[in-house]
Amino acid sequence: MSTMTLFHSPASPFVRKVRVLLHETGQQDRVALHEVQLTPVSPSSAVLQGNPAGKIPVLRLADGSLLYDSRVILDYLDAQHVGAPLIPPSGHARWRRLSLAALADAILDAAVLLRYETFLRPADKRWELWEDAQQDKIERSLAYFEHDCLAELASHFDIAAIGLACALGYLDLRQPQLGWRQRYPGLAAWFAEVERRPSMQASAPA
Ligand code: BEZ
Repeated sequence: MSTMTLFHSPASPFVRKVRVLLHETGQQDRVALHEVQLTPVSPSSAVLQGNPAGKIPVLRLADGSLLYDSRVILDYLDAQHVGAPLIPPSGHARWRRLSLAALADAILDAAVLLRYETFLRPADKRWELWEDAQQDKIERSLAYFEHDCLAELASHFDIAAIGLACALGYLDLRQPQLGWRQRYPGLAAWFAEVERRPSMQASAPA
């Protein structure tokens, strides 16, 4: 039976990270999904009641307390199961995997900002230099994952791999013209494998 509620939007890659971790750790039945409609300029009142920043995901626990953002929710949920942790508990591995997860989040931050820039901002108010800088951030991060991290990614489907898998899935959703697979064949091969995981399939945006 569900004891927690996740405020979500199906396209949000930050929500997807949480849904993937829930699935990977066998906890998906503990959380009910509550879908909300929101953008930065039209927040959801249900979300605002839980998170003054108006951002998803928000997780409401059985006792009514609220957790946000995705990193905090992932940390909480990873402590709620008995399997191998997806966030290393200590030592070098912890800081390395959390740093890679933060880099994946940086790709997501830039890609979501670009989505808002192209989808929400009036065309005459757009700033090309700023858009190019966000795109460069994505490219530099993908190049680093491709050239320095492939073996690390392949070693565990953990917090870092979940973050990057959700980032690549979001690029496919919102920037299908980007063609990242041609420039990053190692990431393409890795993603082709991980996107077949049941957790990724179950959380794919409709
Ligand atoms: C999107 O539609 O791209 C989106 C929705 C919610 C959060 C972030 C992105």
